[in-house]
Amino acid sequence: MAKLTARAAILNIAPYVQGKRTLNGVAKSIKLSSNESSHGPSPAAVAAYHAAAADLNRYPDGGQWGLRAAIAETYDLDADKIVCGNGSEELIGLLVRAYVGNGDHVLLSQNGFIMSKTYCATQGARLNIATEKNYRIDVDAMLALANDDTRFCTIANPNNPTGTYINSSELRRLHAGLPESCLFLVDNAYAEYVIADDYDDAIGLVNEYDNVVTTRTFSKIYGLSALRIGWAYCPQEIIDVIQRIRTPFNTNSAALAAATAAVRDTEYIKTVCEHNTKSLQHISQTLRGLGIEVIPSVANFYLLKFNEDTGRNGSDATAFLQSRGIIPRPANDSDQFLRITVGLDEENDAVLAALSDYMKS
Ligand SMILES: Cc1ncc(COP(=O)(O)O)c(C=O)c1O
Repeated sequence: MAKLTARAAILNIAPYVQGKRTLNGVAKSIKLSSNESSHGPSPAAVAAYHAAAADLNRYPDGGQWGLRAAIAETYDLDADKIVCGNGSEELIGLLVRAYVGNGDHVLLSQNGFIMSKTYCATQGARLNIATEKNYRIDVDAMLALANDDTRFCTIANPNNPTGTYINSSELRRLHAGLPESCLFLVDNAYAEYVIADDYDDAIGLVNEYDNVVTTRTFSKIYGLSALRIGWAYCPQEIIDVIQRIRTPFNTNSAALAAATAAVRDTEYIKTVCEHNTKSLQHISQTLRGLGIEVIPSVANFYLLKFNEDTGRNGSDATAFLQSRGIIPRPANDSDQFLRITVGLDEENDAVLAALSDYMKS
């Protein structure tokens, strides 16, 4: 008798490893491992979350009307082209399920959001993965791997864990080199942090073309990671496709209420963004002064590269930081790198002091 087994495509996938959350014996660690916001959400979002407790006996608003309207107002978008998900990762998964089949060619960049790769692998897709150059998405390398059969292409912009971005003309050049039958998904989880003039959040591309989608999240600058809520901006035909497979109540009432209040509090987000920009500058300058390479980031995290000749590396630095109660995120594939989230001033100061001591140790 044949034994029960999952599909081979699934068994080849490595399980997701979450950024470390706590340290043994440390009551209050400084958690900088998952690019969350140390500022937390807007007070208005917290109040809306508490108010949602009054209606816990009712199903959520399955049409997501209130949140879609609030997002549309804040970002000046068409609410009919917005769909919300249980984190942006759910929406990425639904899009892949809808558009990528067994054996289809998909085009990915070396880094980017690991779950995009996982979802494509789950479908049994053929993964074409372009190498990045100078820690940036290499549009030429991606286009060299594109062909008429490419069904799906995705990038994260800014990218994770590098924190770098490609500018508007590069983004459009990548899109222009893909066949019309290819869904181009631009994962903009960190878009709200970017202040560069030549950055493109892909909203214009969605409005212009039938094959472009952008995903956004409330997990990062909005400080609502725990509630699992994100959104996608899509051409109408793609919205219609997602509505066929989305579970009717995929976004819960507390998340919808908190996100609706959060997205309306634009002043709060502006303050968090300004703090991030200032902190990133200070951190990068200080660490470079210590002889650590800092990959130029536009997001709320930074990637450090240790020079092997100095005898310093990511795992030793992680152990050193952890001994000071700080939790960074080691890189999966190379011990030269370490990713750290930008935190509050006192958290960043603790990181800088620890890394200074580590470099002297
Ligand atoms: C590039 C990128 N995309 C998507 C996500 C997932 O975000 P969400 O919490 O909305 O599922 C993350 C989370 O770290 C990310 O780094």
